[in-house]
Amino acid sequence: MVNMKSFLNVEDLGDLKEALREAAEIKANRYKYDTLGKNKTLLMVFFNNSLRTRLSTQKAAMNLGMNVIVLDVNAGAWKLETERGVIMDGDKSEHLLEAIPVMGCYCDVIGIRSFAGLTDREYDYAETVYHQFEKYSGKPVFAMETATVHPLQAFADLITVSEHSEYPEGSGNGRKPKVVLTWAPHPRALPQAVPNSFAQWMLAADVDFVITHPEGYELDPKFVAGARVEYDQRKAFEGADFIYAKNWSCPGVGCHREDYGKILSKDMSWTVDAEHMSWTNNAHFMHCLPVRRGMIVTDDVIEAPTSLVIPEAANREISATVVLKRILQGM
Ligand code: CP
Repeated sequence: MVNMKSFLNVEDLGDLKEALREAAEIKANRYKYDTLGKNKTLLMVFFNNSLRTRLSTQKAAMNLGMNVIVLDVNAGAWKLETERGVIMDGDKSEHLLEAIPVMGCYCDVIGIRSFAGLTDREYDYAETVYHQFEKYSGKPVFAMETATVHPLQAFADLITVSEHSEYPEGSGNGRKPKVVLTWAPHPRALPQAVPNSFAQWMLAADVDFVITHPEGYELDPKFVAGARVEYDQRKAFEGADFIYAKNWSCPGVGCHREDYGKILSKDMSWTVDAEHMSWTNNAHFMHCLPVRRGMIVTDDVIEAPTSLVIPEAANREISATVVLKRILQGM
C-alpha cells in the first residue's frame, strides 16, 4: 500500500497496475470503504471554476464517509496574496501563508485547484501554490488541477483507456493500444496541465503513445521525455485506437520563452471531425471536458457511439475515490 501524503504526479500512485486493480474494485462497489473517512473532513479549495472536479471529488469523499467543506477562493473569501515579499497595499486582504495553516486547522485532507496564471512560466512550473499547501497546511494534499498537472483527470483517463482497450495486457497478441494526444484549436489561452499529465500517465502505462501538434506547441520534457511527437496530424491518427483531443497554449519550450501562455495558432484544420476519425482504427474519442464544440471537435464525433467523454467524466469519481482512500489509509 502506498502511504500517500501528496498526489501530484504519476509516481505518487506507485504501481499503476495495482492502482487500476483498486479502481476496478472501487467501481464494482464504490461504498466498500464507507466508514474509512468517518469523522474526517476534506477541504476542497478552488482558485478557479470547476464542474467535474468539484462534483466527482465531493462524491468520492462521500463514498468514503468523509465530511466535505468547499472553499471558492474567488467567491466569498478574502482576496488572497500568493507572492512573498510584497507590500499588501492593494485589494488583497490576506496572505496565503496565513490562510493555508488556518485552513489546515479545520480539516484532515486538502484538495487544491490552483491553475496556471500563464504569465510567469517559472512561477507556474514551480507549482508555488501547491507546494505552499504541502509545506504550511500540516495535512495531506492532492491536486485537483494545478498550474502544470491534472493527475485525477489523467488517472480517470487511464482507467477509461484500460476499460475500452481491445488489447488488454496479457492478451498475447503483442499489440498495444495506440493512444494519440492531439492539440486542437481554442479561442482562449489554456494551461498545459491536462496534456502534461495525460502524457506523463500514458508514458507510464502499457500503450503506444503519440503526440501531435503544430510546431511551437512542444510540451515540457519533464512530462513528455520519450514520447513520439508527429507534426503531421494525419500520420499520427493512422491506426489510432484512442484520440485524446485538447487545446493548450504555448508551453515556452519549442516556442520563444516570452510566448509562454500565448495562443500561437487557431488553425481549424486541427479540429477533430469525421474525416480525421476516418484515418484511425475506428478510434474512441476522448476529451477531459469542458469542450468547445466546433473548435476542438465536431458535434458528430463527440456524439458518436465511440465517444468516451461521459464514461471518462464518470471515472473521475473512481480516480478520486482511490486517491482519497489511499490518503486516509496512510493517516
Ligand atoms: N475536467 C475537469 O477537470 O473539469 P472541471 O474543470 O469542470 O473540473
